[in-house]
Amino acid sequence: MEKATLHQLRLAERMSRLGTETAFEVLNKARALERLGKKIIHLEIGEPDFSTPANVVEAGIGALRQGWTHYGPSAGLPELRQAIAEEVGRSRGVQVSSDQVVVVPGGKPIIFFTLLALAEAGDEVIFPNPGFPIYESMIHYAGARPVPIRLREEKDFGFDVDELASLISDRTRLIILNSPQNPTGGVLSKQDVHDIAEVIGDRNIMVLSDEIYSRLLFEGEHYSIMSEPGFQERTILLDGFSKTYAMTGWRLGYGVMRADLAIHIARLMTNSTSCTASFTQIAGVEAVRGDQSSVERMRAEFQRRRDVFVAGLNRIKGFSCRLPKGAFYAFPNITKTGWSSKKLADALLEQAGVACLSGTSFGDFGEGYLRFSVANSLENLNQALVQIDQWTKQNL
Ligand SMILES: Cc1ncc(COP(=O)(O)O)c(C=O)c1O
Repeated sequence: MEKATLHQLRLAERMSRLGTETAFEVLNKARALERLGKKIIHLEIGEPDFSTPANVVEAGIGALRQGWTHYGPSAGLPELRQAIAEEVGRSRGVQVSSDQVVVVPGGKPIIFFTLLALAEAGDEVIFPNPGFPIYESMIHYAGARPVPIRLREEKDFGFDVDELASLISDRTRLIILNSPQNPTGGVLSKQDVHDIAEVIGDRNIMVLSDEIYSRLLFEGEHYSIMSEPGFQERTILLDGFSKTYAMTGWRLGYGVMRADLAIHIARLMTNSTSCTASFTQIAGVEAVRGDQSSVERMRAEFQRRRDVFVAGLNRIKGFSCRLPKGAFYAFPNITKTGWSSKKLADALLEQAGVACLSGTSFGDFGEGYLRFSVANSLENLNQALVQIDQWTKQNL
């Protein structure tokens, strides 16, 4: 029999700079424990537990039956780009034309493509920390230098605008904003956005404004930097269908940006996935143009769960949690437990049967915090509180 030769895997250097999203690793670990017969309450993954609204599902099925099963244009189907342009124009109070919209499979590719298109060695990119881990991963991957701006609990997880001013340099190419924010649930107010716009001034710096949770707001109104005078041409707005319409598995999101940049982002689509699935996009048209009552129903339910869960966390020894103003996460401070975030998250998974994420999954400034997703039933959330409480009583 011929002897197999072992060839060493030689990865490109850039792969060493690519990070990951630990939510999926924790999910795998939790599933492994479940296979051993342990019961786990899943509060680690950031995905709505609701079904996609029926009208959207029907539109998707109808699209499949009508033959929307072929390639489409890289930038997205004209009818969906038009529907998004109208919706974003209306909700952000700006004029948007369909050639400013690029439809992609989920919100994530807009982060990937924006960094590939705009950032390179020698550039600096300012990003929120703690924040969605893909920002830092992709800044590194593009060869640029990640410059974290610390989100501060005492500022309700907003940041200090003077600090932002001190971080901006001649090399700053891009600033990433995210509101409502993952993982903290913090929200930038209209005043915060004004102040940020003022600090950026007329510098030629682009802003990637991740607004994927814009419809999951518990107080006030969503305000985008795209609405600030002079910022439409410097903003890449990221939004999508995953969180708003419980469509994570459909893979549907978009970026809105100046038309001369949209051409290049569409070229990255041509080079990577060709196009977003056509039937998914037809379902997307129904999501945007159809009945919106399910969006409000889901938002109200997340608010109810947030109230119960955060109040419960605040009764647990060593935990203190601010009331998040948006998204569907609770981000308690756990420093008084005396445990590190990672150790505590591991112990809660293995010993208390509750899966959550260490704050450090969202960057170094996440130490001292845990992230719980409230995208689970009230019954499971209450049960998780009981199990965490029991565990802390036995171990702290
Ligand atoms: C802040 C933020 N941006 C973008 C995304 C990506 O969303 P999608 O699943 O549509 O790619 C997520 C998903 O968790 C997120 O939390």
